[in-house]
Amino acid sequence: MKLAMIGTGYVGLTTGTCFAEVGHKVVCVDNNEEKVKALRQGKMPIYEPDLEEMIVSNVSAGRLEFTTDLAAAVRECEVIFIAVPTPPHDDGSVDLSYIEGVSREIADALTPELGYRVVVDKSTVPVSTGTKVYQVIERYSHQGVDVEVVSNPEFLREGSAVNDLMNPDRIVIGSDSQRAMDLMKRVYQPFNAPIVEVDLASAELIKHAANSFLALKISYINAVSAVCEKAGADVELVAKGIGMDKRISRHFLNAGLGYGGSCFPKDVKGFINVAEQLGSPMEILKEVERVNAAQLERFLGRIRKKLWVLRNKKIAVWGIAFKQNTDDVRESVAVKLIKRLCEEGAEVVAYDPKAAETGAQALAGYNVTICQDMYECVQDAEVLVVATEWKQFATANLLKVRERMRLPILFDGRNIIHGENAVHVGLEYHSIGRKTLYPQS
Ligand code: UDX
Ligand code: UDX
Repeated sequence: MKLAMIGTGYVGLTTGTCFAEVGHKVVCVDNNEEKVKALRQGKMPIYEPDLEEMIVSNVSAGRLEFTTDLAAAVRECEVIFIAVPTPPHDDGSVDLSYIEGVSREIADALTPELGYRVVVDKSTVPVSTGTKVYQVIERYSHQGVDVEVVSNPEFLREGSAVNDLMNPDRIVIGSDSQRAMDLMKRVYQPFNAPIVEVDLASAELIKHAANSFLALKISYINAVSAVCEKAGADVELVAKGIGMDKRISRHFLNAGLGYGGSCFPKDVKGFINVAEQLGSPMEILKEVERVNAAQLERFLGRIRKKLWVLRNKKIAVWGIAFKQNTDDVRESVAVKLIKRLCEEGAEVVAYDPKAAETGAQALAGYNVTICQDMYECVQDAEVLVVATEWKQFATANLLKVRERMRLPILFDGRNIIHGENAVHVGLEYHSIGRKTLYPQS
């Protein structure tokens, strides 16, 4: 089938490429000319494992192309996906101006002669957006165009997006029309995954409710981690004990510095806002946000307590990205942590395997040095903080770390380092929701 993907960001680019991989012909559209030019030259705008190879092979097979010409893509493709940003406003409501703008552009390009078109909303949006998209298209397009709007939320995680897309747990399709539903089922037939067929509004709600629930799960274990610290218990053991209950599951029960990224913070805010608008507030999600913010504050407090004064202390930070396997620093807790340390006068040296460039942009104006080597980063440091759950931090040579540091203090904000190994080489090991381990003197 011929598919258009409007918005070639993390979601649009990976989703479009996976559609091409299963045999569809995909036109990826973006209004950023530089991005389109770079993609045409085979340059990747983002780091995502396995994506580059997949793009290269599908472009050369003639199944994937990049353009700025939205109208041409609409004319050519029977299914048109929208994957443009839906950022939060200051009050937490969702900025739908990009969605509205793209809907109008689609409307302009549609004519009755083109035949049936389905416009699919992939961006995360508040419930009832699909209906509004349909109204905009109807209002701005020629009389007699045959178009329907569907909601098809995306559940990919950055860092494992290709695998998540190729092997989804489920595919959610929301439509109030059987014709549109049947067409969408054809799009997804090659993926061999269970399809959840629902109405438009339910599909939109599924996305907000799913992401908010995952954020709630993380905040729950983080709140438990605070109790563990007071009680002398171990949050990892608690997570194991409760996670083995299939009704709960161990997934998304990793205590840490809190959730970040382009989705959870925005979607929790968005859901709170839409529920309030509808007169049915989700107070529980305000607590999720509060716990998430408190997690970083508690951690900073512990570093402060250890060092007494942060001013002029050299603090090494491993991790800038909001999670492992990505260069994305949007709403990254690691970035927030670095900024806070700098504001308190610390001299921060940071390292990230992929987010050095994006991190430097996000931290412009702060007194932070970004290192190209994780061991160089800890040279003369008084504290090392692990802020992102990259695998290479978990398997680091801790002896090498200890030898380079000025003081042997390690704060593991993601509970990924083996504490016994740290103390074995003489490091003091502080983590989340567990007792601090001290080297034997
Ligand atoms: C975005 C939304 O933030 C998210 O809520 C939604 O679920 C999917 O789309 P993401 O793909 O991570 O997520 O956004 P981003 O990486 O910012 O990419 C968006 C792309 O759309 C950019 O390449 C941008 O240039 C493009 N764009 C934006 C358009 O082509 N047209 C526009 O009008 C606006
Ligand atoms: C999320 C959803 O998982 C995905 O389904 C949706 O489509 C987009 O939003 P993403 O933001 O890419 O994906 O990453 P995810 O792996 O969910 O992690 C989000 C944040 O939560 C990261 O900051 C991560 O460090 C944190 N996290 C995750 C925890 O702190 N503990 C956990 O157990 C899991």
